[in-house]
Amino acid sequence: MANRRGAFAMSTTQTERPQAVYALGHTPEEYDRLRMQARVWADATGRLLDRVALTPGATCLDAGCGPGETMRLMAERTGPAGRVLGIDTDSSLGAMALATLHAAGHRQCSFHAHDLTAGEPIPGGPFDLVYARLLLFHLPQRVEVLARLWDAVAPGGHLVVQDYDIRGITVLPALASVGELTRVIIGAFHAAGADVHVGARLPQLFLEAGIGYPDGTDVAGRLEPLATGSALLERTFRSVLPTAVARGITTEADAAASLASAGRDATRFAGCPMTWPLLIGAWKRKEQA
Ligand SMILES: C[S@@+](CC[C@H](N)C(=O)[O-])C[C@H]1O[C@@H](n2cnc3c(N)ncnc32)[C@H](O)[C@@H]1O
Repeated sequence: MANRRGAFAMSTTQTERPQAVYALGHTPEEYDRLRMQARVWADATGRLLDRVALTPGATCLDAGCGPGETMRLMAERTGPAGRVLGIDTDSSLGAMALATLHAAGHRQCSFHAHDLTAGEPIPGGPFDLVYARLLLFHLPQRVEVLARLWDAVAPGGHLVVQDYDIRGITVLPALASVGELTRVIIGAFHAAGADVHVGARLPQLFLEAGIGYPDGTDVAGRLEPLATGSALLERTFRSVLPTAVARGITTEADAAASLASAGRDATRFAGCPMTWPLLIGAWKRKEQA
């Protein structure tokens, strides 16, 4: 791997490169799950956008924008004089995101279908804010992509990244059904080349990408009863199931039994506390030229 200084080096975070696939798939159910997840993290993301003082008229990029919920947070802050570009490989989801944003009056938003791993420069830059949430998690080329995102930041602008460390998932008491759903989810993500602890590694990745140590970091969590919290786990399990079955991590029959068991436990242990994955943020301001 060529690092930012042109030398070839093996990254500590990229020791293996399984063939990359996007483990979550592109179904309507997964799109709904992404919207649900984005609503949960809206405050945690809004806090970071305010932390880097996103102001009216600013230009913003949401890399791997998915359903466009962070684009909405950006548009609300930059106002009509700003410009918000979402890029994603999934052009269907991007078109839906844009239609929703425009219907809500955020005409300053646009979408461009773009694969961040393709080696092409990011279109439309430079930006006052380059942001990515739950993107690097999926990409074996995370250091190269991070470096590319940094290249798209204007002098004086910011790069802000938020991503999961799924060690945050816990339930008290520990339940075998939750353990099995989590095992399959992690197995599918690993098989697809994801890094399920990437959030905790963000400062290290910033260094490897030649960005420098982040100016700040942030850790957000969520605690809720298993009765509702289990929905994230079950919906993520369903989204990764085709990958998990294809890679021999579970079978359709075992998966059905696991979901039934998890459903029973969500009723029986409804009030038990469950924590979500940690959403970890890191940001860096690019010096003026
Ligand atoms: C888990 S979703 C997160 C969406 C959004 N950032 C959010 O937090 O709500 C990851 C998104 O990254 C997109 N993605 C995956 N690989 C990509 C790539 N190589 N280039 C651009 N987008 C990619 C997916 O299509 C998906 O929309």
